[in-house]
Amino acid sequence: MMSDVRADPCHASAYLVRAAVTAPSPYNTQPWTFVAEGVDRGIEVHADADRMLLHADPAGRELVISCGAALFNVRLAVRHLGFAPVVQHFPRPADPAFLARVEWGAYQRPSPEGERLFGSLRRRHTVRGPFLAEPLPPSLADDLRDHAHRAGATLDFVTDRAGRRHLAELVRIAEDAHRSRPEYAAEQRRWTWWPGEPRYDGIPADTDVTHPDVTNFPGRDHAGLTRMFPARPQRRPSRTGAVAILSTDRDDPAAWLRAGEALQRTLLEAADHGVMAAFHTQPLEVPSLRVRIRRTLSGGAFPQMIFHLGYPPWIRPLPRRPVADVLRMPGAERT
Ligand SMILES: Cc1cc2nc3c(=O)[nH]c(=O)nc-3n(C[C@H](O)[C@H](O)[C@H](O)COP(=O)(O)O)c2cc1C
Repeated sequence: MMSDVRADPCHASAYLVRAAVTAPSPYNTQPWTFVAEGVDRGIEVHADADRMLLHADPAGRELVISCGAALFNVRLAVRHLGFAPVVQHFPRPADPAFLARVEWGAYQRPSPEGERLFGSLRRRHTVRGPFLAEPLPPSLADDLRDHAHRAGATLDFVTDRAGRRHLAELVRIAEDAHRSRPEYAAEQRRWTWWPGEPRYDGIPADTDVTHPDVTNFPGRDHAGLTRMFPARPQRRPSRTGAVAILSTDRDDPAAWLRAGEALQRTLLEAADHGVMAAFHTQPLEVPSLRVRIRRTLSGGAFPQMIFHLGYPPWIRPLPRRPVADVLRMPGAERT
């Protein structure tokens, strides 16, 4: 018989948070805090502004997207435990960092689809570098579009050669600009660490095992490989994967939160098929380039994420902060 996990708020909340923190976040910043609301209530999801990328993401758009992905994981974990999640976005409008409250609703048998997505939580990882050449299953694109739509966003695949070339060019312009801006590069370095100084957040420099310019869409250069090897490597365009843009009809924190939920739902469905994402969000961090993408590639909708999908040649799980660092229990002093 299923025990009522709500009887122990510490145990139940820790369970939800362990699921939540598997979400992706730029530079693995993990910009979230959770507050347990006590027996029979639920859990709060808050943005942690101290972990915002002031140069790459001054508006906090990517920060809220990351928290939206974590929120989707909380929903899945509540369902997995046999309850219907009751979710309220921005429950206290005067506190914009208080992004969502998830309460335990009625008992509800977990659905097969929810269980599949829940089972993908620890299987999903970000890919850096080329994919295998194997094409995706033909029905997967429709499936993923449907998942994004059901979470309130639009997923478009850029399939024509001219569109892909155009987007690759915009990623190139953004990445070149980022590499040449000292404050941006310094911020990236602060979130990069080297073996011997392990952390629970940020990106280990040895995660980049291929040159960031090896596919048509340049990656972020965490390890400084472009300085060590300035000559452009031989390109492997066939290993770029399927190119997708996730967008929303509005561009405000509520839309960003929705985009994060849709992103995670899409990524988990893909992971259930063994398909992973490589992200190329650099041009969305440059306002003029984001406008160009909106006009030319996302049909006027606001682009929130750019990613590629394919089968990874390898995966490298990245660390997460311990639950005790991100979960505040009832009665604990607020800082
Ligand atoms: C809003 C957002 C933007 C991201 N942008 C990039 C990116 O441009 N390049 C990249 O390699 N990864 C990007 N990522 C992925 C993160 O680097 C990754 O989620 C993080 O390092 C944790 O690794 P994991 O996803 O494998 O758990 C992004 C993730 C989010 C949520």
